Amino acid sequence: MSGPSLPENTPLPVRPAPSGGLLSWIDRRLPVISAFRQEYVDFPMPRNLNALWNFGAILTVVLVLMLATGIFLAMNYTPTTGEAFMSIEMIERQLPGGWMLRAMHMTGASLFMAALYIHLFRGLYYGSYKQPREILWLTGLVLLLMAMVTAFAGYVLPWGQMSYWGADVAGKAVGAVPVIGPALEHIMEGSDQLGDIFLHRFFVLHFVMAFGIVAVVALHVMALHVSGPNNPTGQPVPARETVPFHPYYTTKDVTGLVLFALVFVALAFLWPDLLSEPENYRPANPMHTPADIEPEWYFLPFYGLLQSVPSKFGGLVAAGASIGVLFVVPWLDPSPIRSARSRPLCRAGMAGVVISFVLMGLVGRHHAEGAWMIVGRIAALCYFGYFLVLLPLCARREMRRER
Ligand code: HEM
Repeated sequence: MSGPSLPENTPLPVRPAPSGGLLSWIDRRLPVISAFRQEYVDFPMPRNLNALWNFGAILTVVLVLMLATGIFLAMNYTPTTGEAFMSIEMIERQLPGGWMLRAMHMTGASLFMAALYIHLFRGLYYGSYKQPREILWLTGLVLLLMAMVTAFAGYVLPWGQMSYWGADVAGKAVGAVPVIGPALEHIMEGSDQLGDIFLHRFFVLHFVMAFGIVAVVALHVMALHVSGPNNPTGQPVPARETVPFHPYYTTKDVTGLVLFALVFVALAFLWPDLLSEPENYRPANPMHTPADIEPEWYFLPFYGLLQSVPSKFGGLVAAGASIGVLFVVPWLDPSPIRSARSRPLCRAGMAGVVISFVLMGLVGRHHAEGAWMIVGRIAALCYFGYFLVLLPLCARREMRRER
């Protein structure tokens, strides 16, 4: 099998731009309509994409929802330590529909991160990081980091107990970096203790990052349209095996979105507190440390990793490396075979990665003590072992066999 060439999916014949009328007049001067037709309506898509390919569209729609609800929340929020908690209470209890805005924003954050992890593991499983999609993969990882920073900054804003003490733990972890740590901690916190400057900084960071994400999504989708989507087989798709995006994938994406919306609505309106931490409904109190300091569920695997390593700085390096290693995956795995469907060893390894990730989350929840500490270390070894040992070895074997 030889390496794929660009572009992989031969384009379908493109319909001409609208002829006559206002649309045609605009299109001849600003070809947005023909560009939209070419890049969306008529874009050639492999016929065999499964439901895991719905998550890009789901992420895009949830992102829009987060921006829309976030703007209205920001109009009623006050970023000072004296008033932040009360302004959130006011949104919940007095602002018409405020409770709904907040429930949607909070549930949206959790489900966005869940969709992001599914989207990422889909890419890993089907080898969507391999050439020619390296930049697509890297922009995705930048989005992951930006989403994490945005979510963390957002969690600080209600200025509840968990907001405060979570920020305190993060600040101390940053401060543990040798040499530059204390300076970094000071830059992050803005003064010697967590106060108005810190809260104001994180409010701006949250807002700016959210719009930054939109810009990077544009690059991400642009990169996707250069190579076209991968597919579950990982093989290049000939033109006769493609279908236009509309109506085939518009209907499929809408179906996926409706199913996702059911979960969203159930969580937001029936169980709004299922994913949130009750301790954060108490105002921040620097004089009283909660019995259990724990981040939101989507940070638990990294928190577990942080705690499984004996030194604070070592834990920070391990947590950073767990994402850092994803940036070099396209080069750790030069095998010409893409999809794990055709790579039994990688398939087993991927199952190990997912199980290790969940176990690291459980370790984070149980504070890496006693047996949990051992579980955390074994899970970390399996996670890194897949990327740094199994994947390169598999690739080398497969390349030898292909020659
Ligand atoms: C704000 C977050 C993100 C948004 C809105 C987004 C959006 C999209 C969309 C709309 C697609 C095309 C539909 C699909 O394949 O599902 C896509 C594809 C893709 N995304 Fe993302 N994405 C995001 C984050 C990520 C992350 C964190 C990664 C992983 C590093 C990633 C990697 C990919 C890859 C590899 C593809 C091509 C998949 C294939 O065709 O096999 N994306 N993304």
